Amino acid sequence: MNCVGIIGYGHMGSMLVKGFLASGALHADEIVVASRSRQSLDACAATWPLIGIAATNADLARRCRTIIIAVRPQEVGGVLCEIVPVMDGDEHIVSLAAGIGLKDLEAAFTGSVTRVVPTVTSAVGQGTTLVCHGRQIGMNDALRVEGLFSSIGNVVTVSEDDLPAATLLSSCGPGLLAAVIEELAGATVRTSGISPDRALALATEMAAATAAYLRETDEAPEDLIGEVATGGGITEVGVQGFRERLPAVFDEVFAAMLERYGTVGK
Ligand SMILES: NC(=O)c1ccc[n+]([C@@H]2O[C@H](COP(=O)([O-])OP(=O)(O)OC[C@H]3O[C@@H](n4cnc5c(N)ncnc54)[C@H](OP(=O)(O)O)[C@@H]3O)[C@@H](O)[C@H]2O)c1
Repeated sequence: MNCVGIIGYGHMGSMLVKGFLASGALHADEIVVASRSRQSLDACAATWPLIGIAATNADLARRCRTIIIAVRPQEVGGVLCEIVPVMDGDEHIVSLAAGIGLKDLEAAFTGSVTRVVPTVTSAVGQGTTLVCHGRQIGMNDALRVEGLFSSIGNVVTVSEDDLPAATLLSSCGPGLLAAVIEELAGATVRTSGISPDRALALATEMAAATAAYLRETDEAPEDLIGEVATGGGITEVGVQGFRERLPAVFDEVFAAMLERYGTVGK
């Protein structure tokens, strides 16, 4: 009954199973998985023979105290309708779905609920999982879920008002940064004889090294820029170009993403 249940064995569900097991946060016999298709469940059982497989979402809810819902936002309502009637009320529902608010979760279930936003980089134990607890959360449930997700990276609690913008940064951010890396590599290829593979490898390493440098030295980006962009030098030309054009581009992109966020799951 103290098991952690994961409903939805897609990108996030499978990443969580792998992360919780690899980090040692959970043993295989402490995890139960349910998913819509036989194919996903067979893949799960083949990869992790010792974890529990539930025949239905309701079956999982009967067997677990912490229930992580890792389905797409438009599927959350249906899942809640299946599990809540078989629950005692002292379980903890943890939803990953963007756009499904604490109010929506608490309307369906009066016990402990938490919204959690991991990131694709949690798969390599890096990045931040955002956590936002509901009104009924007890200390033990809060600590348990925060401890669980800290096994796959950093955990930061945020207010629900700040969750959309924080999600763009932490969870969508890897996609945005990957697009920037792609552009840097693309510009290198277009202005040289360097192959696309080589340019991408150079760009990826540079991005990882820059993030590591900022993290380890605790320098602000501005300080790093000051060290690289000497007056009248090459980098200064690039930084100036970015500073003139990027704020408008980033504000526009964020506004569009926030608008889309507001429509997810509706
Ligand atoms: N991807 C990200 O980077 C990311 C980051 C943070 C949060 N999230 C959130 O995480 C959630 C899952 O995203 P994802 O990328 O993992 O999506 P996904 O790859 O499409 O996985 C969703 C899984 O849910 C399963 N499913 C659908 N309906 C179901 C039902 N009624 N009962 C049980 N299982 C059901 C599907 O199972 P079958 O395969 O068996 O059909 C599918 O594998 C979303 O709400 C998303 O907003 C995603």
